[in-house]
Amino acid sequence: MWSDDCGGAVQIPITKPWFDDDDFAAIRRPLETGWVVQGPYVRQFEQRFAAFTGAADGVACSSCTTGLHLALAALGLGPGDEVIVPSFTWVASANAAVYCGATPILVDIDLATFNVDPDAIEAAITSKTKAIMPVHLFGLAADMDPIMALAEEHGLAVIEDAACGLGSRHRGRHVGTIGDFGAFSFHPRKAVTTGEGGMLLARETRHIDRARVMRDHGASRSDHARHQDADGFLLSPFAELGYNYRMTDIQGALGTTQMKKAPAVLEQRIARARRYDEKLASLGWLRTPAAPEYATHSYQSYVCLFAPEAPTLDGLPKLHAARNRVMRFAAERGVATRQGTHAVHGLGYYARRFGYAPDDLPRSLMAEQLSITLPLYPQMTDEEQDHVIAVLKAASDRGRRSA
Ligand SMILES: Cc1ncc(COP(=O)(O)O)c(C=O)c1O
Repeated sequence: MWSDDCGGAVQIPITKPWFDDDDFAAIRRPLETGWVVQGPYVRQFEQRFAAFTGAADGVACSSCTTGLHLALAALGLGPGDEVIVPSFTWVASANAAVYCGATPILVDIDLATFNVDPDAIEAAITSKTKAIMPVHLFGLAADMDPIMALAEEHGLAVIEDAACGLGSRHRGRHVGTIGDFGAFSFHPRKAVTTGEGGMLLARETRHIDRARVMRDHGASRSDHARHQDADGFLLSPFAELGYNYRMTDIQGALGTTQMKKAPAVLEQRIARARRYDEKLASLGWLRTPAAPEYATHSYQSYVCLFAPEAPTLDGLPKLHAARNRVMRFAAERGVATRQGTHAVHGLGYYARRFGYAPDDLPRSLMAEQLSITLPLYPQMTDEEQDHVIAVLKAASDRGRRSA
């Protein structure tokens, strides 16, 4: 199918959602009943998700971002409070703190795992710190033991950004169930998707209850419950400030069928990742994802580090340009790649508002500039994956040399 020189017009995307007849039938059901806003299917999805992760309950919401905001808002965080967040993450992690009027304190990562460095968290704790937000980036659990120990020692809340974390475990526990809160994403780049969507888990029932109310404009009784009640003509008292962060029942219905597939999807993703690990091991310039002993990686993304030599800040511009040449080489041969994510401290808003310079958090900067995400999806064939591998091998021989 592909020519020897890896040319041709193949298109291997970075990911593909997996939808089947079960999903198509599921989204019809709320359309047929006419109840399309948050209702019984959202509730079923919450229960199915909680059972999968081992959590007591879940609060479905419109995205992981709104789930993170709900968690911080439910804790009552506001101006003067600080939340410690790794810089190498999707901007939404830090934005959630800003939405509350709190200050995100961006800290550096461990370049070996791409996850937050617990020593950097410890160094950033002040009298204003109220919470730590570890991110289980790309499906790899953050180093939770020292993080939980710091939280306990300093009386801090832990909000796990588990956007990428479905199926990811830390010492056997599902991520998102270790701290006070865990927020997940169902964006199509994630293992299961509802288009947009999120799920907030919380250890304490009072936090679940509060997040449920705040998700729905502050209403203590949901619209669906009100419509079942004899006094459904009366509106809720709206005792506190809330938001419209509800998930629709169309998404909820899709979530229930997506969760049925989750074990199979995760198994396929892990098998593909293992195959990359094996077949890319001989490429001296590409470091494949780490697998620390405490974690079971779920490979929401397969993110490598472009490292033909040990990265340094001085050598970074040259290495960054060479990484981009490899990515362009792959794109020209029909293979989509992406940088892992961004270094939030270098983004315009954060640099301007909080005065960060790019070199302030060097490992986050290096991760942004040297990471390469490879295509990975459960329907991927051996042939497709072999093409990706062949292109990377050809890039070693030609793309990098012609740099
Ligand atoms: C680490 C991380 N946090 C938060 C989010 C935000 O998720 P959502 O798009 O569901 O709001 C993402 C999305 O990709 C993410 O990767």
